[in-house]
Amino acid sequence: MANTLYFPLLLLLLSAFLTATAQQRHSNISPGSSLTSGSNLSWLSPSGLYAFGFHQQGNGYAVGIFLAGVAEKTIVWTANRDDPPVSENATLLLTTDGRFVLKPMQGYETSIANPDELASSASMLDSGNFVLYNSDQRIVWQSFEGPTETLLPGQRLTAGQELVSSISQTNHSTGKFRLRMQLDGNLVSYPVKSLEGQRDAFWSTKTYGAGDNVTLNLDDDGRLYLLNSSFNLRNLTKGVNFQGRTIYLAKLDVDGIFRLYSQNLDEKGNWSPLWSTSTSKCDPKGICGVNSYCILKDLEAKCVCIPGHNHVDPNDSTSGCQRNYTAGSCENEDGRLNYTMKPLDDTKWLDNSYSILTISTKDDCAAACQGDCNCYAVIFEDGLCKLQSLPLSYGRSSPGSYSFAFFKVGVPENIRKGVPADRPSKKPSKKKLTVEILIIGVSLVAFAFLVLAISGALIYRSNAWTHKMISNRGNIELNEDLAPRAFTYSELEEVTNSFKEEIGRGSFGAVYKGTIQNNQKVVAVKRLEKVLAEGEREFQSEMKVIGRTHHRNLVRLYGYCLEGTKRLLVYEYMSNGSLANILFTSQNQPSWDERVGISLDIARGILYLHEECETRIVHCDIKPQNILMDKCRCAKISDFGLAKLLKPDQTRTFTGIRGTRGYVAPEWHRNLPVTVKADVYSFGIVLLEIICRRRTVDSSLPEDEAILEEWVYQCYENRQLSKLVGDEQVDERKVDRMVKVALWCIQEEPSLRPSIKKVLLMLEGTGDIPKPPSPTSSFSTI
Ligand SMILES: *[C@@H]1O[C@H](CO)[C@@H](O)[C@H](O)[C@H]1NC(C)=O
Ligand SMILES: *[C@@H]1O[C@H](CO)[C@@H](O)[C@H](O)[C@H]1NC(C)=O
Ligand SMILES: *[C@@H]1O[C@H](CO)[C@@H](O)[C@H](O)[C@H]1NC(C)=O
Ligand SMILES: *[C@@H]1O[C@H](CO)[C@@H](O)[C@H](O)[C@H]1NC(C)=O
Ligand SMILES: *[C@@H]1O[C@H](CO)[C@@H](O)[C@H](O)[C@H]1NC(C)=O
Ligand SMILES: *[C@@H]1O[C@H](CO)[C@@H](O)[C@H](O)[C@H]1NC(C)=O
Ligand SMILES: *[C@@H]1O[C@H](CO)[C@@H](O)[C@H](O)[C@H]1NC(C)=O
Ligand SMILES: *[C@@H]1O[C@H](CO)[C@@H](O)[C@H](O)[C@H]1NC(C)=O
Ligand SMILES: *[C@@H]1O[C@H](CO)[C@@H](O)[C@H](O)[C@H]1NC(C)=O
Repeated sequence: MANTLYFPLLLLLLSAFLTATAQQRHSNISPGSSLTSGSNLSWLSPSGLYAFGFHQQGNGYAVGIFLAGVAEKTIVWTANRDDPPVSENATLLLTTDGRFVLKPMQGYETSIANPDELASSASMLDSGNFVLYNSDQRIVWQSFEGPTETLLPGQRLTAGQELVSSISQTNHSTGKFRLRMQLDGNLVSYPVKSLEGQRDAFWSTKTYGAGDNVTLNLDDDGRLYLLNSSFNLRNLTKGVNFQGRTIYLAKLDVDGIFRLYSQNLDEKGNWSPLWSTSTSKCDPKGICGVNSYCILKDLEAKCVCIPGHNHVDPNDSTSGCQRNYTAGSCENEDGRLNYTMKPLDDTKWLDNSYSILTISTKDDCAAACQGDCNCYAVIFEDGLCKLQSLPLSYGRSSPGSYSFAFFKVGVPENIRKGVPADRPSKKPSKKKLTVEILIIGVSLVAFAFLVLAISGALIYRSNAWTHKMISNRGNIELNEDLAPRAFTYSELEEVTNSFKEEIGRGSFGAVYKGTIQNNQKVVAVKRLEKVLAEGEREFQSEMKVIGRTHHRNLVRLYGYCLEGTKRLLVYEYMSNGSLANILFTSQNQPSWDERVGISLDIARGILYLHEECETRIVHCDIKPQNILMDKCRCAKISDFGLAKLLKPDQTRTFTGIRGTRGYVAPEWHRNLPVTVKADVYSFGIVLLEIICRRRTVDSSLPEDEAILEEWVYQCYENRQLSKLVGDEQVDERKVDRMVKVALWCIQEEPSLRPSIKKVLLMLEGTGDIPKPPSPTSSFSTI
């Protein structure tokens, strides 16, 4: 607003002229009244401050409300803002039959307002509100109820409404930003085409939860505030009592910043901003297009393309940027990388990573992207390397953020094609050459036949495959004997009904319930979200290892999906939830005998993983949440074999309470090799939870009981084992036996822990179990 030129004197004269001649200050616009575009006539409010009529837009005219009594004509409301401008001689008409319409010279009329009832008069009020009345002089429509980008004193933005910025100072069509008064009580700024939520928001009053009827209000003294039905919730600005006549308006500007302006009418000055939601013009998300980032230059926002990119529209730097090289494969035939990585420090982006790696240096992070054909950019921050595909949005420079970005750029053709210097080209002797030609010739012929044969076979197979795909649609089958089967993503979408029913969420990601139609088999589909960007081959071989496990105490893997970065696992569905569900909730708790059975089931499952399956599997994450209960409440272990696919820190549970590690064996923290004994430790903790039917850490209990392992050892030493099972009647010798096994399992020193085979024998057997030492006693000796 401040940038546009204005000619106070000229306008002053003009307005005086118009007022004196043609303009009438209508307090009442009667049916049959009309305005014509290009005539410079408008309907003024009684004081002459506001006017309703045509204003110039591009080469034509738009209809709206503007401040006429000020130096600079200021548009505050636009009718049908996204309609194309009308040309000269269009008429704006309040018809005698109660409609309010715009009639262009040619073409169809459009309505300016859609009142609930037919209008019998209209009025431009001194508040800046244009209203239509019915025959009883009741307001049936008002411009204040449908704001565009401006809020005037006395006007209110109600819950569910939004202000939307204009494209430019002169084009009042829908622009890039919106300010929404949300139904949750929060006033939030977003890019215009975005979802609502933290990801896209760039400013808010943080008043969420304040009720569903919060409104944004502006008072005559310039006070901007939030109100719930009865209370003043938050003053955004203080009222100011300037000398003389001052008017205010609040506007969501073209640049996405919401500002409060004032103007002293007596001085015929300019609009001066009093308050704004942001001081940096780079703050609004989306101010720059995709693949570009915002930097401040002389306090103005400037959009710069990421390396290797040019502006889509060279005349519009906010248009976003596109690659200036053609993307192909990552390597050429020589094994040289076709791309280099260009750094760009201290920029912030919307994180849209398809994979996150734990890598300690930014250079290794850049290299990880360089070698990955899906990766076009990488963001390195907080020790995490986030691989991105393009486009990237919401980029802005952020000095001192310690966030590093690298972008892939194509190596120019001439360098790419150059002969590698480290491979000297020896000129072969003539004789050798002829022999070589002969060999090459023969091989070529042989090769040609081979190719022919293979492609023939492939064509046949691909036909068969297409055929199968078609016949399989809506008809996905599962042959349990051939598991694990590779599913396509769309098949799993169908199986889970587009991931409709989420049944749980673990350290890997969400789990959904699904049904394989043909077998009427209910399955659980686990979507791995935090998997290392492992090669497909590692993933598949891991799936084969897991798929080959068959044991009644292990959850069966039926199949998996591997498509691009999507990795999903299909498991048998366990109707009774996890052990945590039945153990830590008061209803339906298992009896002592049932609990002993569950302990044996778990131990047998672990025994199979450790000693009986083809490839030894260390689970690394045994906890009640990973032990599932089938329909007969038989325990089965899940999530085994996944540890290798995960970021190393994700399987570890930290509780943040002194001396405890949850289910994680101490060697994890001491950088000692992790062996099968780590699982024995976790099993010991789970066993204690099963015995006592409580969590390993429960801070709601008295301090000496809060940490289960310490409390159990104390009770064991003091011969108060009955305390552990509460009011349940259990033979104390049975409790003693279980507790001793558990205490042996949780020895700090891995070599003191029994193997799981021994554990199972101790749990099942009747012989004596030696007295366990204090779990931590060995700690001080090593
Ligand atoms: C309307 O005003 C503009 C300047 O604001 C002027 O150029 C034009 O000639 C005027 N038109 C009429 C019909 O008065
Ligand atoms: C306003 O901007 C929109 C979108 O860019 C464009 O379609 C329209 O023609 C513009 N109007 C004028 C009058 O320039
Ligand atoms: C508008 O009407 C006037 C008078 O009827 C005419 O002289 C002028 O050419 C018309 N303008 C356009 C753009 O048709
Ligand atoms: C309005 O806000 C006040 C203060 O936060 C609160 O006590 C009151 O319940 C709210 N009223 C409604 C209708 O939400
Ligand atoms: C919403 O709040 C406004 C005041 O902010 C009040 O006038 C109106 O009655 C309230 N509406 C409801 C449904 O509570
Ligand atoms: C907001 O300002 C008004 C007027 O100055 C005052 O009465 C009210 O208490 C203030 N409200 C809050 C929440 O600070
Ligand atoms: C591509 O953009 C880079 C800047 O990032 C520039 O150095 C290079 O010359 C551009 N190449 C072409 C073909 O425009
Ligand atoms: C950019 O502007 C120049 C001159 O204003 C014009 O000739 C050119 O066509 C424009 N380019 C595009 C892509 O709009
Ligand atoms: C990589 O280089 C090779 C050899 O020049 C070429 O065949 C391949 O298409 C290139 N890939 C890209 C990125 O263009």
